[in-house]
Amino acid sequence: MKIFLDTAKIDEIKKGVEWGLVDGVTTNPTLIAKAGTPFKETIKEICQIVRGPVSAEVVSLDWQEMVKEARELAKIDDYVVVKIPMTPDGLKAVKILSAEGIKTNVTLVFSANQALLAAKAGATYVSPFVGRMDDIANDGMGIVDEIITIYSNYGFETEVIVASVRHPKHVLESALMGADIVTIPFNVLEKLFHHPMTEIGIKRFLDDWKKYQTGR
Ligand code: E4P
Repeated sequence: MKIFLDTAKIDEIKKGVEWGLVDGVTTNPTLIAKAGTPFKETIKEICQIVRGPVSAEVVSLDWQEMVKEARELAKIDDYVVVKIPMTPDGLKAVKILSAEGIKTNVTLVFSANQALLAAKAGATYVSPFVGRMDDIANDGMGIVDEIITIYSNYGFETEVIVASVRHPKHVLESALMGADIVTIPFNVLEKLFHHPMTEIGIKRFLDDWKKYQTGR
């Protein structure tokens, strides 16, 4: 399973890449606003650091404007993937962009039927938002499971990016279900390292080593 970072913060991305764990990055208008850096320059810099797919989102709502924005975003770097909202206009734009060889990530997906339509339109990636589904008492990971089954039933090549991830259990379940990608906030990536038994084990080994060396 590939791991993407869901952030536009350069310091977080650099750290994840130095660990050798980051295969790509997803951003959205909220994450760009949080980073507070200029949009296109930030996307360019992220592409140079990650050398993997980097999602940048359009903000128009009608398909002609989305296509125009997407073509501009795609010029920033070959690694750019254009994020398009799950709407009729959005999927019309996806169809046109995929015919031009521009990679797309259909975002704000909350049902398996939406994911089916996105794949039929030729989306490169689809992003079900599991955390936001859980927030309204829906079963986010259950919908991911349905999407994986549908894509495998029909041989769709669209890759599933599990998005809106809130905690390590979402990551574990994604891996068990065979999701292609999970995109995670930096704090969730940090949490994946930790286990109390690892920390206790390191302390015990070092304490015993010290005793052995000092003869006490
Ligand atoms: C996905 O690509 C989105 O950027 C993101 O996962 C949304 O997550 P949120 O629900 O935490 O805002």
